[in-house]
Amino acid sequence: MSIFFPVPRTIKTRSDLELTVFQCQEIVIQLAEIMPGAIFEPHQHPESQMGMLFSGCVEINVNGKKAILEPFQQVYVAGTNIPHGSVILSEETVLGFEMKYLIGSQLDDHIDEPILSLQPTIDKTTGFPCKFGACSWFQIAILEIPANEQLPKCTTTTEEIGIILNEQIMMKVGESEKLLEYGSIYYAPAGVSHSGYSTSDKTISLIRVSLPSYSHLFA
Ligand SMILES: [Fe+2]
Repeated sequence: MSIFFPVPRTIKTRSDLELTVFQCQEIVIQLAEIMPGAIFEPHQHPESQMGMLFSGCVEINVNGKKAILEPFQQVYVAGTNIPHGSVILSEETVLGFEMKYLIGSQLDDHIDEPILSLQPTIDKTTGFPCKFGACSWFQIAILEIPANEQLPKCTTTTEEIGIILNEQIMMKVGESEKLLEYGSIYYAPAGVSHSGYSTSDKTISLIRVSLPSYSHLFA
């Protein structure tokens, strides 16, 4: 098993929530399937947390501020010990993902806005259209990879995680290679080369999250 392609655990902590959990060293990625009507009371923890919807509609509450989340439009951001909770408004099952990271996310007393709206742009690394957002402790891009295209080989000083949303893509991280589909992710630590290619005749959506690396920060 490669650390670059973590094997998930499925967790059902309550009847209205199923989580597929990936551990990428200090970073935890959770794919969530949430039943209609679920309520998550506000809580807080040392880990910084963010999340986004793939389907459905949710009212999120971060530090007492409420907002509506729509799929692929906004990301909520709750830094270290910032209270956060949510109410599922959809009448269908809601899909989404969350990331937790034990990092001081309020460096220099900077507190992130609780809702980050993603903006359409062109991704600098790949040249592909994407929706992009950044805050103090991560960057997120939802890439639209055209049919039969390649993700060029790159090595970054950030940690990078990719979540594929449809079709299949062949990813290579370091010397490991794997065909990924929804329900699987890749993890590229800082300094590890990664690349990919699509053999699909459809556009592939890939969520790419980048975080500063501890080893880089403290090198
Ligand atoms: Fe939380």
